[in-house]
Parts: sequence; structure tokens; C-alpha cells
Amino acid sequence: MIVRPLVDKDRIIHELDTLAGFSDTPKPAITRILFTKPDLGARAYLKGLCEEAGLRVREDGLGNIFARWEGSAPELPAVATGSHFDAIPYAGMYDGTVGVLGGLEAIRALQRSGFKPYRSIELLIFTAEEPTRFGIGCLGSRALAGVLNPESLRLLKDQEGKSLEEVRWEAGYMGRLEDVQLPEGYYAAFVELHIEQGPVLEQEHVPLGIVTAIAAPASLRVGLEGVGGHAGAMLMPDRHDALCAAAEIILGVEAFAKNSGSINTVATTGFCEVYPNAVNSVPSRVKLEIDVRDVEQSRRDQVIRNIIQGVEQVCTRREIKYSVDIINIDPPAKSGSEVLKALVEACGDAGVKFKLMVSRAYHDSLFMARIAPTAMLFIPCREGVSHRPDEYASPEDIALGTYVLALTLAKLSLA
Ligand code: GLV
Ligand code: MN
Ligand code: MN
Ligand code: MN
Repeated sequence: MIVRPLVDKDRIIHELDTLAGFSDTPKPAITRILFTKPDLGARAYLKGLCEEAGLRVREDGLGNIFARWEGSAPELPAVATGSHFDAIPYAGMYDGTVGVLGGLEAIRALQRSGFKPYRSIELLIFTAEEPTRFGIGCLGSRALAGVLNPESLRLLKDQEGKSLEEVRWEAGYMGRLEDVQLPEGYYAAFVELHIEQGPVLEQEHVPLGIVTAIAAPASLRVGLEGVGGHAGAMLMPDRHDALCAAAEIILGVEAFAKNSGSINTVATTGFCEVYPNAVNSVPSRVKLEIDVRDVEQSRRDQVIRNIIQGVEQVCTRREIKYSVDIINIDPPAKSGSEVLKALVEACGDAGVKFKLMVSRAYHDSLFMARIAPTAMLFIPCREGVSHRPDEYASPEDIALGTYVLALTLAKLSLA
């Protein structure tokens, strides 16, 4: 069967722009944090678009949104696509959103072309892929895959001490957390369209990337407690400055990653909270959050052991109390061969070149891969920039990614 999806490029670009309006910071900086006003506004907007497209919309108790185009074999596991729409502080407007609105436009493009799905095709819009509010990334997809169980979800608190239970109820999501995990075999396949968030496709002038594996992410929280006091009166030999200990630890994090023996190891201390954070007060407490990743799990785990040992050494020498909590330490994901095959064939049908590549960023696909054959489709983004307001993907690349996604969904639906 020949399928020619009719992608409406102007429409998807217009919708991306409208979605970017739901933000706590002015464009082009996007800040959209779980269950804040912009997040709730964006949800209503997206659900409206799904309904307009004739999709059957449901939500689970965590706010994951499912919008289904029913196939002629609705009893069979569906084929799904989707991504996230939350945005870290001062982010750009394409991370995640291209896979949400691109997924929806792929469905509409198939509808316009007269395609009739056999397996149902479902758009899955994930709750909080970004770790901003509750400190852990891929909240929605972790729960769907059963990696975070209801008891662990109930323990989560945001930085203001509000529990996930409290904030989801306030947002109107009262459904049972026990019902969030998807039953086995719920999806026949999952495919996520996303900007690359790296420079490779642009540098190599290749329009599309097909992701064969996702690097293994981990994050740690380090608490440091020294002794505070007057910045003028407290003499240097008497000090146990928590921020000085943090500074050594942070440089250690960088060094352990740089010296891992592989360019694929990355480590970042992206969060540092200082108490009392006043110029004339010796810092008594510091909280750090450290992100460590590698395509090879064992090398990443060695870096984590080095970091923990480094914290112990620095704190013992400086007489600082410390705690280290591992927030997440996930294995890498491998893509499903049947989804890879469909993506490769779709690129062939479209007559476009592609590159097989790994994803260094994590995505909801990392967890979807645990419950369904999964793969990702990357489009280039300017200079590889992401998690910044100047993140940019061209309308042409977005439309091409959407077109190939539509072809892929069609193939998987008929499989
Ligand atoms: C997700 O945004 C990541 O940090 O890879
Ligand atoms: Mn992101
Ligand atoms: Mn993303
Ligand atoms: Mn991401």
C-alpha cells in the first residue's frame, strides 16, 4: 500500500509557536514546569487539538495524556508516538514539543491522505520528562513502565516540600496511581520524534538520525553541612565552609568525567543551593545535584563510585558532614529492531538520507523501551543547541521528520 502523508508545515509551526506562549518566561525563553499555570494551559491546548483531530483522549492519574486514533483492529496492541511538553527553566521551544505536535501532525497527515490504520495509533504526551520539579526525569514514562511504583511516587516532594500527591490533586489529577502502569503488551511499538540536541546531523549535513541506543543517565544529590558564622569574625583556621567543600567536589566531578578514558562520559553539577547565601556569612549548608551519563553503563558507574569516594575524602579532610543520595541510576536502552526497520524503510520511501546514532540525552523512550519495541527519530537543531532559549529547528526539518514519522507509524500500524 502506498501512503503519502500530507504534512501541513505551516500548521505545525504555528502550533509550536502557540504552545511556546504557555511559559513563565517571555519568548524565546520557555519555562514550563509540571502542574504550574503554563503547564496546565499547555495541557488544555494540546487536548483541544487532539479532540479537534477526532482522537479519543484520556489521562491517567499522573497527567500522562493518551489520544487514540482507533484502527480497524482496536483489540490489538496500538502503535504509539509522542514526547513531552514540559520545559526546564529558560529552555527553548522545540525540546519535546516537536515530538508532541509532530506526532499529532503525523496522525493528521495520515488522516488527510485517506490512510486507515489497522492497529490503533496513539499519541502519548508524557508528564514531566524534565526533572525540574521533583528532581527525577521521565516521571510519567517511568511510572508507565512500572519503574517508579505508586509508593515511590507518593514519597516525592518538590523543593517547597509539597508532595506529588498534593500538586497532582490541585491540578485536578485524582486518578489512582496504581492504575498508571501500563499492562504488559499495551503497545506494539513506540517511536519518538525529537530534536537531536547535539551537532552531528547538522555538521554532517544528514537530515535525519535514527537512534539505536540511549545513553545511561544517573543523578546524585549531595548534602553538605559545615559550620556557618560571621564572615568577618570567624578566623580561617576555625572554618568548615560547606561551599568550599562543594567547590572541590564540583571540580572532582569534572575531572572524573574528563579522565574516564572516553569522550562519551559526561558529568555536570547543574544545581547548587547555598545556605544562607549571604555575602557576609560563612556557608553552612550546600545541596548539590550531579548528573552523570555514558553510553557504557560500567564506565558511568565507575565515575559515580569515584565521585562518592571524592565526597567522602573532601568532607573527612574538611570535617564536613555529608549525605549522598542516588536519585536515579538507569541502564541504557537499545532500540527495537522492528521499529528501526520501519524507520529505515520510511526514510527509503521518502528518499532521504539518515544516520544511525546514539542519543546522549535521555528521553521518555528510555523507559518506553522497557515495555515496547521503541526507537527514536532525530532532526537536526542549529549548532546542536538545546536547553537554551536560542534552541532552533527549521520548519523544513520539522516537516520532514513529521513526514517520515507518519510513514513509520503507517507501517507499524499495518504490521
Ligand atoms: C533531558 O532533557 C535530558 O536531560 O537528557
Ligand atoms: Mn530537555
Ligand atoms: Mn526532550
Ligand atoms: Mn529530554
